[in-house]
Amino acid sequence: MKIISTIDELRDQLRGQLRTAFVPTMGNLHEGHLSLMRLARRHGDPVVASIFVNRLQFGPNEDFDKYPRTFEADVAKLEKEGVYVLFAPTERDLYPEPQEYRVQPPDDLGNILEGEFRPGFFNGVCTVVTKLFSCVQPRVAVFGKKDYQQLMIVRNMARQFALPTEIIGAETFRAEDGLALSSRNGYLSTAERTEAPFLYQTLQYVAEQTRAGHADLAALERDAMERLAARGWQPDYVSIRKRMNLQAPGREEYEAGAPLVVLTAAKLGATRLIDNLEI
Ligand code: PAJ
Repeated sequence: MKIISTIDELRDQLRGQLRTAFVPTMGNLHEGHLSLMRLARRHGDPVVASIFVNRLQFGPNEDFDKYPRTFEADVAKLEKEGVYVLFAPTERDLYPEPQEYRVQPPDDLGNILEGEFRPGFFNGVCTVVTKLFSCVQPRVAVFGKKDYQQLMIVRNMARQFALPTEIIGAETFRAEDGLALSSRNGYLSTAERTEAPFLYQTLQYVAEQTRAGHADLAALERDAMERLAARGWQPDYVSIRKRMNLQAPGREEYEAGAPLVVLTAAKLGATRLIDNLEI
């Protein structure tokens, strides 16, 4: 595997490649990330991964400084997956001058759910993804459903800008007890790690109730938030949305069986976890 840090070197290395499959990450790689590498390999060749902790998508009081950086271990894992190029720019490589041009997603998708609780987050994601795509010029790029809203926003962005990159969604990789793997799980204490699967159990509960035709989805969302709060979580949201556009379903749409997804974000101690489940 070639480890490349500058945009110029990357362009040299990938010149003429027409079937590149790309997996952008922020590192601290776990099995969820590696499952994306495997999916990428089925959809293109060569596989290019990136590791870059993107300051633009972190709020001022978020964990940019303490975000786990485990470069050597990440390199070993990517070697095993047969990744051809790892693009690992420094901030100066990717942002040699302040990134003043930004890619702003539409409010109705970018400012809801995660966007409501993390202002500017999707602007930061769209901006860096656009820039990474411009560097790598991939035919396909793989994103995890773990970050459901991110996947949808990137997919819509690629479509609206007619980017030559097809966006592929990968299923969420979970631990045996149901907890979605995440770099932020490493922040959890032993006791919190034992409690953490309750977030997924809550999603399963909401999904079951919804499938059973629960009469009042807003009440069900409140019920789920209360269940979390009762066990010491601080939920930001539990929201049942249409998969198509992440807007709330109208009563008729719900009754007509519109495809739904339930999404949640909640803090356990100091750690904010997100998860979702298609219903
Ligand atoms: P990061 O959190 O490192 O995630 C990189 C990719 O791995 C994302 O597409 C994410 O959805 C996926 N992923 C994370 N955990 C997963 C799991 N348990 N199962 C399946 N896929 C999982 O998401 C980002 O980085 C950044 O926002 C990025 C897109 C790289 C832009 O900076």
